[in-house]
Amino acid sequence: MKYFKALVVGGGLAGMRAAVAFNMKNVSVALLSKVHPLRSHSIEAQGGINAALGNHPRGKFDSPKLHGYDTVKGSDYLADQPAVLKFTGLAPFIVREMESWGVPFSRTPEGKIAQRPFGGAGFPRTCYAADKTGHVLLHTMWEQVVKYKTYAERKNIQIFDEWMVTRLIIDAGKAVGVVAMNIQTGEIDAFMAEAIVWATGGMGRIFKNTTNALINTGLGMAIPYWAGVPLKDMEFVQFHPTTLLGPNILMTEGCRGEGGYLINKDGERFLANYPDSSKSMEISPRDIVSRNIQREIDKGKGGYPFAGGVKEGPFVGLDLRHLGEARIQERLPAIREIAINFAGVDPVYEPIPIQPGTHYAMGGLDTNENGQAPEVEGFYAAGEAGCASVHGANRLGGNSLLETLVFGKIAGEHAADYINAKETSVMTSKGFVAEVLEDEKNRLKELKNKNGKEKHAKINDELQQTMRDNVWIFRNEENLTKAYNKIQELKERYKNIGIQYKGDVMNYDLIWALEVQGNLSVAEAVVAGALNRKESRGAHFRLEYPKRDDENYLKHTIIRWDGEKAQLGWKDVELGIWEPKERKY
Ligand code: FUM
Repeated sequence: MKYFKALVVGGGLAGMRAAVAFNMKNVSVALLSKVHPLRSHSIEAQGGINAALGNHPRGKFDSPKLHGYDTVKGSDYLADQPAVLKFTGLAPFIVREMESWGVPFSRTPEGKIAQRPFGGAGFPRTCYAADKTGHVLLHTMWEQVVKYKTYAERKNIQIFDEWMVTRLIIDAGKAVGVVAMNIQTGEIDAFMAEAIVWATGGMGRIFKNTTNALINTGLGMAIPYWAGVPLKDMEFVQFHPTTLLGPNILMTEGCRGEGGYLINKDGERFLANYPDSSKSMEISPRDIVSRNIQREIDKGKGGYPFAGGVKEGPFVGLDLRHLGEARIQERLPAIREIAINFAGVDPVYEPIPIQPGTHYAMGGLDTNENGQAPEVEGFYAAGEAGCASVHGANRLGGNSLLETLVFGKIAGEHAADYINAKETSVMTSKGFVAEVLEDEKNRLKELKNKNGKEKHAKINDELQQTMRDNVWIFRNEENLTKAYNKIQELKERYKNIGIQYKGDVMNYDLIWALEVQGNLSVAEAVVAGALNRKESRGAHFRLEYPKRDDENYLKHTIIRWDGEKAQLGWKDVELGIWEPKERKY
């Protein structure tokens, strides 16, 4: 058994920022991650990070308050406004901090951090490094972690990479540790700590057609959920409008921020034909653009014309040709490379075939504005895994990278202060933790020894397809019920899985069995929330209830695990200076 003052679970931007926050307050911390931190999904973020810096010629009058307003409006008024103001208030500091740590942001001609327009933002406020913003932020953050784990004066950070956490341990309402498996050796051990920051990222892989990496399964959220931390607002799943046809790799909103068009098979900029996107066009918010792309495809207008003829199918064209090669190469080099390598299309000469795909979970583990879980002492969540309710029903592009860093910092600092002020230690739970460790070893052994006929990969495939077919951009009772029943069937079949590889070293057969178990529980929470919310708000669109219903549903969905399935509840939204009104762009 190991003991640290603090634990961070997850090695992406939120987790690493939390670890740095602990270090700054001289709290020893172990960071556990199932992949090396540089393989975290934060690296995939492309288009940028929002902060009201006012560096763009059209952004002079921007402010954190206006950033807050756009965020609340974008959320379809489901965001908690005090949390939003804290979030947007810290944004300029966070971006400048990352700049001071060495992030090579793109620059204005005067040398300031460059900013581009993004959907739903009143001013161009998305700071970027070409189309590799997540990549450079992640590498820069890793440098800070390396400093604190090797040569700096305070060496408080220890990294346990390729250690997969399988269980959260809560004793009498307090988080006291985790059980984790060393993927390379199969060793299973308990890690105890006075506080834990959970930063395992999103769960897009419960769906087919997602921008999310293979590692983004439901398990990250499921582990605390099974242990007693409720999930919040899980029905709100973001569909990114522009993912590459086929592999669904993200084609950044920055393409449209730089002036790219969306066209149909007639070459028409069809967003002009829909009242909710006719004014802001390509930089309308993501929920609106995704719906209108899907409507266009459903009408049989999918495709695009180009010099080589007309291509038709379940996609529309992301047209960058008018930007010219030099600008594409300067601002969107990775987009060009990905389109050439994965779709055989050079955007200098041909539109990119795109379609909406799942991208981000607005919901997650229930926390307050400090990243703290209200019901479990010493437990914090940050980044996509957490839900401090700053995105509500629809997140604005560029607010996700910001969320990782803001809430990584806030959660780490708050937890460090909590630890430093503590008069008791979790070590009084040592006996309990030892029992849980044995129990978890037995559970994993039993799972590995299973010889049933069902294949977890097949169950996962059917789950992802069901979520794609029935819990997509347009939802209704019938399809959601179909998905719910299918998940129950898959949960039953999961009891009869077989694991072929019985060894300890790099047992990905066992690991995927665990991931699929997490996918099933989290998918169930998404569907249960979606069935229960009989209105349309942000990214959650119910065909039979196409309007937002503030009278009955201006509230957060709370889901608790009862040991077998999801149990639904509600929680009030924290309103503030902005009264809910109709969203118009
Ligand atoms: O389109 C993008 O570059 C994605 C940004 C985001 O999800 O915030």
